[in-house]
This record gives sequence, structure tokens and C-alpha cells, in this order.
Amino acid sequence: MVPAPFAVASKRQETADTWTLELTGPGREGMPFAPGQFTMISAYGAGEVPISISGDPDRAGALVHTVREVGLATAAICRAGPGEVLGVRGPFGRPWPVGEIAGSDVIVVAGGIGLAPLRPAILALLARRERYGRLLLLYGGRSPEQLLYTGELEQWSARGLEVAVSVDSAGPEWLGHVGVVPRLVARARFDPERSAALVCGPEIMMRFTVAALAKAGVPPANVYASMERNMQCGIAHCGHCQLGPTLVCRDGPVYRWSDLEEWLRIREL
Ligand SMILES: Cc1cc2nc3c(=O)[nH]c(=O)nc-3n(C[C@H](O)[C@H](O)[C@H](O)COP(=O)(O)OP(=O)(O)OC[C@H]3O[C@@H](n4cnc5c(N)ncnc54)[C@H](O)[C@@H]3O)c2cc1C
Ligand code: FES
Repeated sequence: MVPAPFAVASKRQETADTWTLELTGPGREGMPFAPGQFTMISAYGAGEVPISISGDPDRAGALVHTVREVGLATAAICRAGPGEVLGVRGPFGRPWPVGEIAGSDVIVVAGGIGLAPLRPAILALLARRERYGRLLLLYGGRSPEQLLYTGELEQWSARGLEVAVSVDSAGPEWLGHVGVVPRLVARARFDPERSAALVCGPEIMMRFTVAALAKAGVPPANVYASMERNMQCGIAHCGHCQLGPTLVCRDGPVYRWSDLEEWLRIREL
């Protein structure tokens, strides 16, 4: 439960309200983690929040998070400058099943800040490119200005990731797709019977994406989603993050969609 002091080594602005921070620990090291895991980050005096690790799991040295400012704690984290100390606990949670899905076509579907928890999975897939079939990224944002990691999308594409980007609305200068991200599923080419999907974004986007994947023939048992619930302890003690009979901090945040379906039909969950 005791946060370790990590200092901001560097920070990069991704969009108007989103920053990527590299943190280093007491011995100036990062933190070993698996793609999809999160930490509890505290900004002193502002609070402690769960944030996914967005760095490269094969690169030791810095702990990377991409944070969108929505309230008190995230604003304080985004404001932290180089040298400033934040508290970090973790890593916590179940990761994306990157090893289990070897041999499959992999469809990564991200909405908005949902690309942050998927970035480590993308980097891990690309580092082991020969173990997978087609690798696709279907990424949607509200507008071109709100897309994350725009400088990296081309690099990923050059390394074998088929990237399709869509925005909800854009001006005439945008030459890409306009429309919600689940629509990209219908246009994408993959072998549904030997495909696995990794999905993260707003819950409504995930529901429509899974429906589109099912329509394309991908079984819900091959679809994995990262879920968000309010968290306090991060270590299965407080019960704040309950989802059905599970705790998201311990049993998630990554779930097999076929395990989630039944609980998500209940409105209050
Ligand atoms: C497992 C997990 C991983 C996460 N990973 C990331 C990540 O990588 N990057 C990231 O930026 N966030 C991530 N989040 C969300 C992040 O934890 C919340 O945005 C944060 O807890 C908000 O705290 P706050 O004190 O800044 O805002 P609060 O003061 O708690 O909330 C301020 C306002 O924002 C609203 N709000 C709260 N959370 C959200 C939200 N998620 N989206 C939109 N509005 C919200 C509240 O309803 C309220 O109106 C993750 C959450 C979980 C559970
Ligand atoms: S956050 Fe406390 S039980 Fe999950």
C-alpha cells in the first residue's frame, strides 16, 4: 500500500488535455510490467488514481503513463513538471493475453484514451511480429486533434501493423475516415475464425465494437476488453471496483468479453 516515490523524468503533450509522462524510481529505474497492467499514481494533496502503463514492456528504464486531465488528481499529474515526485503503487491487474493469442490475426480496437493501455500490447506484438498473422489497429477519436501518438502510427505501420483511423467529426483538411470506430470493423480484412481482438475505449464503444466483431464472425470468447471502474485500494481490499462477482483491480482490468456479457446486461453494474 505504500507508494514508491517516482520522479518525472520527461513529459510530452499528446493533445490539449493529455500528457505522456516518463517516471523513474528511487534507483532511477522503471518498473517491470505486462501490457495492460496499471499503477495507482498519487499526486500529493490531490489524490490517487489508477492509470494504465503505456510504455514499452521490453524497455526497462522508465515507467510511462499517458494521462487525460478530467479532474483533481489527473490535473495534478498532468501538471507535474520534470523532477517533481509522484507516488506509485503497482503494477496491478491482469494483462492482455499477448502470449496466448500467438498464431492469430490480432485486431486491436481503441477509442480515445483507450489507445494508452493498448500501446504496450502493440509494441509487444510488433516486437514478436513473426508469431502472429495479420496485425490490425482500428483507432477512433472525437477529432483529429484528439488522436494520441500520431507520430508513432506511421512507424507502427512500417513495422507491419495495418492502421485505420477514424474520427467522429473533422474539417475539410482531414482526408481519413469519418465515423464511429466500430464501423472500421466492417471494412477491415482478417480471418474471423483465427482472430483475436483487444478492445479498449468508452464502454458504449466497446459494446458496439464487440457486436461488429461478432457480426464479422469473431467469437466473443476471442475478444478481450479492458474495463474501468472507480478504484480506491487497487489490491482487492475495498470493494469499490466490483463488477459482477469480480473485482476489476484483481480479476481485470482485462477480461474475456464472453465472461463479461452477462454482468453488463445488468444496468447498475
Ligand atoms: C484500470 C484503469 C486504468 C485507467 N487508465 C487510464 C489511463 O491510462 N489514462 C487516463 O487518463 N485515465 C485512465 N483511467 C481513468 C482515471 O483513473 C480517471 O480519469 C481518474 O480516476 C479520474 O480522477 P480525477 O481525480 O482526476 O477526477 P475526479 O475528480 O474523480 O472526476 C472529475 C470528473 O471527471 C469525471 N471522470 C472521472 N473519471 C473519468 C473518466 N475515466 N473519463 C471521463 N470522465 C471521468 C467524473 O465523473 C467527474 O465529473 C483508468 C482507470 C482505470 C480503472
Ligand atoms: S480498488 Fe479496492 S477492491 Fe478493487
